[in-house]
Amino acid sequence: MTRLRKVVFPVAGLGTRFLPATKVVAKEMLPVIDRPLIQYAVDEAIDAGADTLVFVTNRYKHSIADYFDSAYELEETLEHAGKLELLAMVQGLLPKHVRCVYVTQEQALGLGHAVLCTKAVIGDEPFGIILPDDLIVNDGGPSALRQMAQRASDGRTGVLAVEEVPHADTGKYGIVDVEAGGDRIRHMVEKPKPEDAPSNLAVVGRYVLPARIFELLEKTTPGAGGEIQLTDAIAALLGESRVLAHRFDGHRFDCGSKAGMVRATLHFAARDPALADLVRGFNKAG
Ligand code: UTP
Repeated sequence: MTRLRKVVFPVAGLGTRFLPATKVVAKEMLPVIDRPLIQYAVDEAIDAGADTLVFVTNRYKHSIADYFDSAYELEETLEHAGKLELLAMVQGLLPKHVRCVYVTQEQALGLGHAVLCTKAVIGDEPFGIILPDDLIVNDGGPSALRQMAQRASDGRTGVLAVEEVPHADTGKYGIVDVEAGGDRIRHMVEKPKPEDAPSNLAVVGRYVLPARIFELLEKTTPGAGGEIQLTDAIAALLGESRVLAHRFDGHRFDCGSKAGMVRATLHFAARDPALADLVRGFNKAG
């Protein structure tokens, strides 16, 4: 297993699908019940062994840094009120050995560009990437990123989380073509039309990549949508390193979409003793 000490969270997108809320609230701070999306993502990174969390933010996303910072007044008030469980909760968002690093992406030039902004922080080691709006749950089992770290046996192998999607949806994803009977990726293309897609195997928001990807990103010119695409740099990596498609154990909620956010909320509500009856009653009424 490759130890992923550093995990990148690119959170500098505009979040247009959740406007007007995302005019002032970072998409990653939208809660599923009472925990923001970013908390689920960070927990997954720590499960995979991370001790350095690298957030790619912009000037509108200070709330993410505030969220992980200590909140002196709140903590003192909770302590005086004897609300010690709540105090432990707000103080325990991150284990003590974990640190946060914030990198600014001045312009939203694309996911590939956002990752390139972390080059100096990552240095020369393999690292993970989590897109927090893809929330992946694997009840009781290892997290998706941990599964991927286990497959990245050396510092050069890349691993991408993949999932089958309806053929009609290939235009929303990076789509991979894998070798017959195996997992090695031969070819990858960003957001192909269904008639041009090499398969219906879509890359979702988890990556394990070698540091070499930064040099390839530096050479990457704007691609689909005029953005610097991580997919294009990974396509270049395929020519020189093994990159595996990992069909993860678990269930993904696309919390970048409203439907996915509602599904994730129902999933967690149905598992919460205080809310499960409400979900059952609601389903019957519907
Ligand atoms: P999305 O394509 O989901 O875009 O980005 P978005 O801005 O977050 O949301 P919509 O589509 O407008 O609603 C995929 C991931 O890449 C990050 C986003 O924050 C998200 O995690 N990203 C994208 C950046 O960090 N910088 C960019 O320039 C573009």
